[in-house]
Amino acid sequence: MPTFTISVIPGDGIGLEVVPAATRCLERVASRHGIGLVFNEHPWGSEHYLATGRMMPTDALDTLAASDAVMLGAVGHPDIPDTETLWGLLIPIRRGFQQYINLRPVRTLPGVRGPLANDAPIDFLIVRENNEGEYSEIGGRLYRGSPDEIASQLAVFTRRGVERVTRFAARLAHARTGVLTSATKSNGIIHTMPFWDEIVTELAADEDVQVDSVLIDALAARMVLKPESLDVVVASNLFGDILSDLGSALTGSIGVAPSANLNPERNFPSLFEPVHGSAPDIAGRGIANPVGQIWSGVMMLEHLGASEAASDLMRAVEEVLSAGLATPDLGGSTTTAEFTDAVLDAI
Ligand code: NAI
Ligand code: MG
Repeated sequence: MPTFTISVIPGDGIGLEVVPAATRCLERVASRHGIGLVFNEHPWGSEHYLATGRMMPTDALDTLAASDAVMLGAVGHPDIPDTETLWGLLIPIRRGFQQYINLRPVRTLPGVRGPLANDAPIDFLIVRENNEGEYSEIGGRLYRGSPDEIASQLAVFTRRGVERVTRFAARLAHARTGVLTSATKSNGIIHTMPFWDEIVTELAADEDVQVDSVLIDALAARMVLKPESLDVVVASNLFGDILSDLGSALTGSIGVAPSANLNPERNFPSLFEPVHGSAPDIAGRGIANPVGQIWSGVMMLEHLGASEAASDLMRAVEEVLSAGLATPDLGGSTTTAEFTDAVLDAI
């Protein structure tokens, strides 16, 4: 029996509610397909921080490296600055494990209504650069608190970094419609973005796909007005982050959106997590939507090569949504536990 070891970090807030929901579903679908899943749970996150001053132990990456994949809920605590929670756990894992692809499908699920009036089905992929770009540690602040205070932050784009994310996205596009949409801003950001554009053009020619280069502001508008015109979108770290929250809103709720942080070379485990955060406003009430976490689990099964189990689990989620079960974020009154039980039955 093929067996995979999964490191599980529920983290904070609703992560503690949606992660157990997803592991139950994964366990059920895996066993039906003769696949073994061993879950090693790590109690890292904000409680660990309040007790030890660190979000995770210093040797956490060594611990995680031994597993086939990592499943994360979310991190974020109202009493701890987001810079501590994010840079103390998620970003070190993404960077340490060279997870330079953040893949975020934007797809309307059956039974879920989006906010757009025509509510036409939406189905495209956002490939976000995940290791560099605007999210850089280079910079600083001077003259704090004085009228002369300044802050500067250096965006870092490397040829290697832009090439590898573009190549990944171009290959996906090649297998789909053959059109790669690139998010840019080379009219306003005059060094890094023309560099991005040049590399995207080179790589697209190399991978035999057509490039549709769109300024990020216009692209945001187009996502709302003509989402059906998009298939694969490649974007820098910041642009991809923003577009993917917009994408999740267009498809109904941030609670359903999944993501995969991939190390395509498989030198390190990849990490699977929903797009949403710890949602302190609803944490502890048992009403969080588990779909984003379960769908992230589907992406994990696909990454592990268990594609039949992955599609069975996705079908089960879609069946439950089609039957009209919906958590409050989708306008219903189903609880996390009720929704999860229905998915388990559908499996
Ligand atoms: P959020 O995604 O946690 O919540 C935004 C809104 O969406 C809230 O009203 C929340 O109730 C709702 N929501 C989110 N997920 C939901 C779900 N599964 N079911 C139902 N409703 C859901 O984003 P917010 O409020 O900006 O951030 C809260 C904390 O989470 C912050 O500390 C932030 O830094 C952190 N965060 C962590 C992320 C991660 O771990 N990858 C990603 C985004 C935010
Ligand atoms: Mg985000």
